[in-house]
Amino acid sequence: MNQKALFIIFGGTGDLAYRKLYPALFNLYEKGYLKEDFAVIGTARRPWSNDHYHEVVMSAIEDAGRDSGRTNDDLPRKFANHFYYQSHNVDDVDHYVALRKLADELDEKYQLEGNRIFYLAMAPRFFGTIAGHLKDQQLLTDGDGFNRLIIEKPFGRDYPSAKELNDSISGSFKEEQIFRIDHYLGKEPIQSIAGLRFGNALFNSLWSKEHIDNIQITLAESLGVEERAGYYETAGAMRDMVQNHIMQIVSLLTMERPDVFDPSHLREKKIEAVENIQMYSKEEVDQNFVRGQYGEDEFKTQLAYRDEEGTDDNSQIETFVAGKLITHNPSLDGVPIYIRTGKRLTKKSTQVNIVFKNNDKNIFSDNPDEKLETNVLTMHIEPDQGFTLEFNTKTGNQGYKLSPVHLRYRKTAAEKARIPDAYEGLIRDALAGDKTNFAHWHEVAQAWKIMDVVRNTWDAETPDFPNYVSGSMGPQAADDLLTRDGREWVFNPRK
Ligand SMILES: NC(=O)c1ccc[n+]([C@@H]2O[C@H](COP(=O)([O-])OP(=O)(O)OC[C@H]3O[C@@H](n4cnc5c(N)ncnc54)[C@H](OP(=O)(O)O)[C@@H]3O)[C@@H](O)[C@H]2O)c1
Repeated sequence: MNQKALFIIFGGTGDLAYRKLYPALFNLYEKGYLKEDFAVIGTARRPWSNDHYHEVVMSAIEDAGRDSGRTNDDLPRKFANHFYYQSHNVDDVDHYVALRKLADELDEKYQLEGNRIFYLAMAPRFFGTIAGHLKDQQLLTDGDGFNRLIIEKPFGRDYPSAKELNDSISGSFKEEQIFRIDHYLGKEPIQSIAGLRFGNALFNSLWSKEHIDNIQITLAESLGVEERAGYYETAGAMRDMVQNHIMQIVSLLTMERPDVFDPSHLREKKIEAVENIQMYSKEEVDQNFVRGQYGEDEFKTQLAYRDEEGTDDNSQIETFVAGKLITHNPSLDGVPIYIRTGKRLTKKSTQVNIVFKNNDKNIFSDNPDEKLETNVLTMHIEPDQGFTLEFNTKTGNQGYKLSPVHLRYRKTAAEKARIPDAYEGLIRDALAGDKTNFAHWHEVAQAWKIMDVVRNTWDAETPDFPNYVSGSMGPQAADDLLTRDGREWVFNPRK
């Protein structure tokens, strides 16, 4: 369905707008989701002209889509003609007056019916100022059109700062108007979790504490901090990956089945799921969470984190986190969820492993203590996309022996190439007012509360860093976390 709207992008000269937003909007235009009735105002301090802005937008499309095989070469220019640049310092009230004038003119010119999307592609410290001025200077339309606010992570550094940030925008926008982007929720394999769980009798009936022994989530990166040291020194793995992406995956895996698959039912169940994660005491944090920072690799060819450009020589920032969470959601009550993320690990892989229980007596062996291999469902999220199901089957001719086999499904490169980029899907959803793949404030708030206990416990102690070798799968303590429970990580590329 075609959607008409005026986009006002704050941070129109920035990296996010260039690399993600302009290409995503172009893809929506190329596919006909945006037709001729849309306009974009880009704002930032740089004194760009409209003509220069058009060149930048076209260059962003070219950089993102060189290999797309596009045939209609006029399309990027036609698309870029919908873009208007307004030089603007977000602290200056007068500029909102000028912005309103331009917005009203474009609304009239393109017949946009008062539909506005405000995209804050800027540092969160500006969010409150912008939201306040948008309201005071009457940039929010009050007819039948919609006013929607899209914001990017980080949503705070902890619960108090996240609440302050949320309070600063909620004076101007209601929760249903706020679209918080967690780009993991825009990834198709993450969106597939609900379909796999609730669209298959096989998995739906087995998704319970009676049948699931434990859940494992790994977001492993093989690269180090690269050129993001400035940001990473203020964030670390907990804030960068765990509080947002991993907690979103946890809630999708542990939520109860919604009665209807629509945004409000789904989000209600996700909120319950994150609220039902056990809150730890400081002692429990010490038992259940592990942090790490990478050192050199075994051949000393890669730098330790502390020696990377832009990092502190004594940095206490964690580049690795592993932890055990416990859900108290009714159907999975007590099931442990082992989470792990880190930089400079053995292999890049994001995957979820569902390890099923193995209580049945092994009737195929004379030895009553010989256990059957456990059934494991693996969801491959990236770079591979697909599933693997491990189960036992008869092999060989000598007696009745069982061995595990792997049933694999992987998306081909061509199938993966056809999946829209996360930003394209998320902007399309925001245009349609579909909040399925956006984080609700209550989810964000509860995830911070859970992580703040961990963070505060860690901040009171000095870690013994570096504590893992680049190219390994993290500190030994991350393996011990499972070994002590009689378990092991399913994803172990060093095996
Ligand atoms: N880049 C990504 O891939 C990515 C991914 C996820 C989340 N994010 C988040 O998205 C936000 C933007 O990231 P980014 O990488 O695009 O940052 P960036 O490249 O530094 O862009 C910041 C933008 O803000 C503008 N700006 C700064 N101060 C301003 C002011 N006082 N008034 C008006 N405009 C001002 C800058 O333009 P002028 O200098 O011309 O004013 C620029 O357009 C950040 O919160 C970031 O954490 C980014």
